Formats: sequence, C-alpha cells, structure tokens
Amino acid sequence: MNVNHTIKGIIFDLDGVIVYTDEMHYRAWKHIADRIGVEFNRDINNRLRGVSRMESLEIILENAKPVSDAEKLALSDEKNAIYKKLLESLSEKDVDSDVRRVLRELKKRNIKLAIGSSSKNAGFILKQIKLTDFFDAVSDGNNIEKSKPDPEVFLKAAEFLKLMPSECAVVEDAYAGIDAAKAGGFYSVGIGAASAYDKADMKIHRFSEVLKLATLKK
Ligand code: BG6
Ligand code: MG
Repeated sequence: MNVNHTIKGIIFDLDGVIVYTDEMHYRAWKHIADRIGVEFNRDINNRLRGVSRMESLEIILENAKPVSDAEKLALSDEKNAIYKKLLESLSEKDVDSDVRRVLRELKKRNIKLAIGSSSKNAGFILKQIKLTDFFDAVSDGNNIEKSKPDPEVFLKAAEFLKLMPSECAVVEDAYAGIDAAKAGGFYSVGIGAASAYDKADMKIHRFSEVLKLATLKK
C-alpha cells in the first residue's frame, strides 16, 4: 500500500489477536456438531476465523442434510449459550502481558485504538479481560450488516475514531480480515495465521511488533 499518511489509529481484531478464544469457539461448535452428527475438526474451526456466527454454522453444515432456517437459528443460539458459559471463565490472565504493555505505549504515543470484530460478544469479552477502557471505540458484530471480508466493520471503527481509513492500520489474524482491511483502504497487518498471508501489507510474529506502526511513514 502506498499512501502518504502516518498512522493515527489502529483497529484490532479481537478473537485471535487480543485474546485467544478459538478453543472456546471450537468446544462450543464441537458440542453442536457431535449432537447433530456432522464432522467438525480443528481444520474446519480454522475456517471460521473472522466469520460471523451464522456463516460459521453454514460452513459446519456444508456436508449435513438440509436444515431449516428456524433450526439454524436454534443451533446458533445453542452454540452461543455454550460459548458464553465458557467465556465466563475468561479473565485478564488470558491476555498476554505484552498486549497490555503495547496498548498502553500506543496510547502514550497518541494513537487512537479501536476494536473491529465480527463477534457480537466483543463487549462481554473486553469486560472479562478488563480491556474495555483501553479502546476509544468498539465496532463489532452488533453494528454491522455484512461480515468480513466486507470492510464494513473496519469502516465503522474508523468512523467512530473520526479518522480516514488511510490514517488507520488494521491488525488481523484472519485472511478474511486482511481482505476486509484491503477492501476498505486500510494498511493491513497480519499476525498469527494471517502472518503467512501474502496480501498483508506487513506481517508480524509478535504482538510487540505493532509498535512499529506508531512511527511508520507509509
Ligand atoms: C470472530 C471469530 O471474531 O467472531 C469467529 O473469529 C466468530 O470465529 C465470530 O464466529 C462471531 O462471534 P460471536 O461471538 O458473535 O458468535
Ligand atoms: Mg480473529
């Protein structure tokens, strides 16, 4: 990406970037899949990264016999009830100390911070891990119509921060999230699974490398 702005805001994906909820999503979906007799494994779980709850269910049901819309709604509600129960055990201990240190440092450097997550549980998760107050804005599954790879969640986050997409970087672990960032005109940073994605403008392997963005002249 080639624009002449410095970074004024950073939009972080939540699940898989700030905190690792993958295992909880996996356990909740596994319970549902086992009950209805469809195959579900960690490879399929990886495909759910960044994907909305209902779209995740559609992926899980790819090889199942047809399911009505009402049943789908009941299954996604059941999954969420199990997932939320698991989230109750989440605490600040589940956040890497580096994450807290880096967010504090970014604030000191006057970088605006936002969450850009497909999850409708983002507010609850932030409360559990005691990070709510670190973010100037939260854009999540509750304020969007279209899920990643659509850029809506990040465009809303930038709007909440009162910044242009070209002034913001997006930090993502999902390929769909990097695609969403690129589609919205953001500088994209791949971490975790997305650090292997060639479309990411920057690939990082440790959260502390986010600090490079605070001085980056793109
Ligand atoms: C994303 C996760 O952050 O949120 C996905 O990466 C998940 O795996 C999606 O499906 C929706 O989450 P929720 O909490 O609204 O069911
Ligand atoms: Mg993620």
